[in-house]
Amino acid sequence: MEKLYYGYNGNIKVGIFGSYEALSEAAAEFIAARMKAKPDIILGLATGSSPVGIYDALTRMYEAGELDFSAVRSFNLDEYYPLPPENDQSYRYFMNKNLFDRVNIDKANTRVPSGVAADVEKECAEYDAALAAAGGADVQVLGIGGNGHIGFNEPDGFFTAATHKVALTENTIKANARFFASEEEVPRFAVTMGMGAIMSAKSIVLVANGEAKAQAVASMLTGGVDPLCPASILQLHPDVNVFIDEPAAKLL
Ligand code: GLP
Repeated sequence: MEKLYYGYNGNIKVGIFGSYEALSEAAAEFIAARMKAKPDIILGLATGSSPVGIYDALTRMYEAGELDFSAVRSFNLDEYYPLPPENDQSYRYFMNKNLFDRVNIDKANTRVPSGVAADVEKECAEYDAALAAAGGADVQVLGIGGNGHIGFNEPDGFFTAATHKVALTENTIKANARFFASEEEVPRFAVTMGMGAIMSAKSIVLVANGEAKAQAVASMLTGGVDPLCPASILQLHPDVNVFIDEPAAKLL
């Protein structure tokens, strides 16, 4: 059962769904409609467990012959640092496994920030320049951290515009330890798109499920724009589409 809630700035549309599968399917349908309208779409993509359902649904649509990724280009939000792309905990590895290896996208058209660049500042500047040259993402997929982070833009006293290297918070290291053999193995840094690139996307699709995200979702939508909840910057974006389940919507 879907309910719609409109954020106070009118630009945020929130769909509340009965299950993770339902919200993932709806988010995938939103993206698929944009892909059909623009086959050479620029997709901004995200990792974490939340968007896996979107990638499964997009793969099903591709297998059914409804979607063509051959002209699609993509830019991922972030990557652990230091972590090489062949490491099975890297976000490059995650994207290959969960989407790129399952559809007919040309991997040469997919970008993930490098987790091994010797000159990180240069890598970040080149990443922003390439995304800007492509005109920004048409659709940017986002998850949200329990602390309100998007990409790896962690709570702070300010928003950072450019793609940058960031020290992960204890909270994020703990939250992501479930993907690693132990907490010690979680990289302490990441390279993440900044808010400039995220906000330059024409449309945002944000997915969240489970009660652990309820506070972050409520702060994002109703707490005022505050860098202590990085996702709250989306209140200033003209087209945000939030797909959540009932537990994640509990505090709305
Ligand atoms: C990770 C990623 C984010 C993601 C978030 C939530 O650290 N950098 O892009 O949205 O944390 O992850 P999950 O969807 O697994 O809860």
